[in-house]
Amino acid sequence: MIYTQTNNFPRIAYNKTGSGPSVMLIHGFPERNTLWRNLVPLLADRYMLITPDIPGTGESLPGSEQTSIEGMAHFIKAIIDNEKIEEIIIVGHSMGGYIALAFAALYPENVGGLSLVHSTANEDSDEKKHTRMKTVQLIRNGAKDMFLNQMVPNLFAAHFKEYHPDLLDEQITRGKEVNSESMMAFNIAMAERPDRKQILRDATFPIQWIIGKEDMVIPCKETLAQSTLSNTTFVSIYEECGHMSMLETPGKLAADLDRFFNYCFKI
Ligand code: MLT
Repeated sequence: MIYTQTNNFPRIAYNKTGSGPSVMLIHGFPERNTLWRNLVPLLADRYMLITPDIPGTGESLPGSEQTSIEGMAHFIKAIIDNEKIEEIIIVGHSMGGYIALAFAALYPENVGGLSLVHSTANEDSDEKKHTRMKTVQLIRNGAKDMFLNQMVPNLFAAHFKEYHPDLLDEQITRGKEVNSESMMAFNIAMAERPDRKQILRDATFPIQWIIGKEDMVIPCKETLAQSTLSNTTFVSIYEECGHMSMLETPGKLAADLDRFFNYCFKI
């Protein structure tokens, strides 16, 4: 692990693996950087992969800017500056994609490509905002484990969860490791994030969409509609895949990321 810090983030922890052009892989909620463990060995011979624990997860301490998605984009920028990287491809899974979009809005000059893995540029619907506030209330009342037990099975495609109960258990355990304050902060940050479709329309860098046909968190229809907004777009739709292609179909995801990175870096 590599550690750095800023005034707002007392400990920023990330792994750096492999060599080649730089790629940042941002995990989602409620995970940590080990989410990418199946992908890193498949890509590290061609790219330098940075996998942070976002603030309040894994070895990164909670920070004062964790209550906004922009704040977490500043966290990503601190890593890029620490590594003295000028151009990087940002891959964001779900909430990691919301952070990646905020990063692209704040620091477009650093972005060589943006890969949105089961993510969306839409803001939350009123209904979803309401659900998030109920989740915050539940967690505040001590029902974090109950929330995780209900949430995690919805992340996977039906046939997958039947055959991989171990992976579901692991995701629940990962979620339990995130403290309640951080869980609440992430929900508030997600509920308050703005619509980012203008980033897609204005993008001068290529954009990739990885979409699970059985994704119950971010429906296929919603992301497909956004994929037509940018100039240069790569779209992959995975049949029989939910919200977690890095666990459900890692080989396929690695091949699609590799194709996208190759295009962005013109290797
Ligand atoms: C995630 O996987 O990061 C979250 O489920 C995203 C969300 O709730 O919008």
